[in-house]
Amino acid sequence: MPFDFDAAVQAPFRMQPGLRRMAPGAAHLTPLAPGERHQREKLAVLSAFAHQALLQREGFEARPALQALAAHAAAEHPQAWAWDGQRAEARQLATAVEGERVVQTAPGRFGLGDEVARCLSCLPGPWRLAGLLGLAFAEDFAIVDARDGTVPWMAVTLPSHWAPEEKVGRHFAAVHAPVADNALLLKASDSLVRLVSGDANEARWERFVWTVTDHPRLHAHPARLAHPRWQDTPVERAWWRTERQTFIPLPALGQAIFTIEVAVTPLAEAVAEPRRAAALHAAIASMSEGVLAYRGLTGVREPLLAWLRTRGGVEGEDAGVEDVKDVKDANAGDGSRPGPAPPA
Ligand code: HEM
Repeated sequence: MPFDFDAAVQAPFRMQPGLRRMAPGAAHLTPLAPGERHQREKLAVLSAFAHQALLQREGFEARPALQALAAHAAAEHPQAWAWDGQRAEARQLATAVEGERVVQTAPGRFGLGDEVARCLSCLPGPWRLAGLLGLAFAEDFAIVDARDGTVPWMAVTLPSHWAPEEKVGRHFAAVHAPVADNALLLKASDSLVRLVSGDANEARWERFVWTVTDHPRLHAHPARLAHPRWQDTPVERAWWRTERQTFIPLPALGQAIFTIEVAVTPLAEAVAEPRRAAALHAAIASMSEGVLAYRGLTGVREPLLAWLRTRGGVEGEDAGVEDVKDVKDANAGDGSRPGPAPPA
């Protein structure tokens, strides 16, 4: 299931968990063709900044969860991934990891022909399986540990304006401390972590995140962003950044694999339909000052809303604009509202 615009873009905008049950049979993972965009950016990040992408708390034993992810990938996408308990093969990339050994099974089909194997060989041995998973699929991964509520392990090459090295090993609530209007999220921390790590036969969860950005890169580590933001990008050339996040529950381990699939497209394409431009206008118009600042939108709010008004046929300066104070007040409430299913 790709990003669901109608479910995700709602007004008034509320910073809320927004978890919803995945449709029966829906996939967690998206196989990448050789040389596809996500893979090329991930290769660049793993080659230059692996120390900011592949991280774990000292002493954490990631192997059981990682092997469960490898088995899940093989069951979900047998044409793209094989796993026999020891050896993982990304079939479309003609590259395997056996224990810690990297094996190229046929000449690669893009670039110099050995990009994937060469990149993996430069990673520390224990990270090569995670590296191959990350290059074979569009998603980035983290392990959530319901036993202590932390995120002890990450393989995140395409973060959205946050630094994985500042988050790894921390409690769910600490990870989310900088999020604006986060009272509801922090209050629900422990139950959310338990929910997503629950019984594999029961619900599997997904959630969507979106923002408007001034740059088109998938890799949005803060150290690689221009400061101040928006200095070179007029709103009509802005970008639409989305994430689909899912949780693969590992109840036997008391853990879950968190998957993040990022996409970036030109904003003008994303809101080509006037009804979408109007929906985005209403959502941004109703954001609190805190959320606008958190998402780096404070300075472009007015030009962005003006541009969306013309695209969406929204009449009048204030059409669709909820009073920001009302939204703030609502945010202090119990969080119930129509829209994507809240967690149980
Ligand atoms: C039940 C699961 C989760 C919920 C409901 C949740 C919710 C949220 C929300 C609402 C935001 C703000 C994003 C925005 O709209 O701008 C956020 C940001 C974030 N989330 Fe989560 N999240 C969940 C799981 C996780 C997990 C497992 C990780 C582990 C990597 C994570 C890492 C982050 C990070 C790093 C940010 C950005 C924080 C910052 O700006 O410093 N989240 N999350």
